[in-house]
Amino acid sequence: MKFTLKVWRQPARDKPGRFETHEVSDVSPDTSFLEMLDILNNRLEGESKSPIVFDSDCREGICGACSIVINGRAHGDGEGTTTCQLYMRNFKDGETLVLEPFRARAFPVLKDLVVDRSAFDRIIQAGGYVSVNTGAPQDANALPVPKVNADLAMDAAQCIGCGACVAACKNASAMLFVGAKVSHLALLPQGAVERERRVLSMIEQMEAEGFGNCTNEYECEAQCPKQISVSNIARLNREFYRAKARE
Ligand code: FES
Repeated sequence: MKFTLKVWRQPARDKPGRFETHEVSDVSPDTSFLEMLDILNNRLEGESKSPIVFDSDCREGICGACSIVINGRAHGDGEGTTTCQLYMRNFKDGETLVLEPFRARAFPVLKDLVVDRSAFDRIIQAGGYVSVNTGAPQDANALPVPKVNADLAMDAAQCIGCGACVAACKNASAMLFVGAKVSHLALLPQGAVERERRVLSMIEQMEAEGFGNCTNEYECEAQCPKQISVSNIARLNREFYRAKARE
């Protein structure tokens, strides 16, 4: 297969960027998207040119590092897929692919396709944890959790913090990410002790980082590789008002 890549190149955070065009050919349909970039980078290095900088770690859809906007969609067009889980057979032979970083004021570009997503880390540090001593592992039935809550908590826990929700949103809102993290803990007994403090601190940090507000566009859910539901944003709002009422 053959592709034309228009790739965003930006040498540093404070330097202007531009699109650079590259042709790649003889690509096997079973090559993953990141392997295709590896092949291109090997060629660029062989020509003593600077390779395209992109992020990846697990390459198994787990870590959320591979954040690339492909043809205007975070992680490309595949439903419920990270960039590393895309294969070139998902694209048309001869297609032109436009590659951009996850763009948001709170995610400054570090280089080419890599952005600084430490804003998410600081939101987690503000309250996305359980700090009470929950003791040794208990017998599975000793701490009853309603099945519906357990399922919703596990659905929310699938969030890998990739930032696709922010990149997809016209407001660069992080409310799906924060909603998933708050929901995960608010639905379980272990998260109950710090429930109010957690949601207030995480929302305060989210706003301090410069993320926008949700205006119910649903793009975040549509482009989330883990298909996290926007119902988590509704729960985030309920948790926030509940905490405010108890202040
Ligand atoms: S590299 Fe880990 S999710 Fe893609």
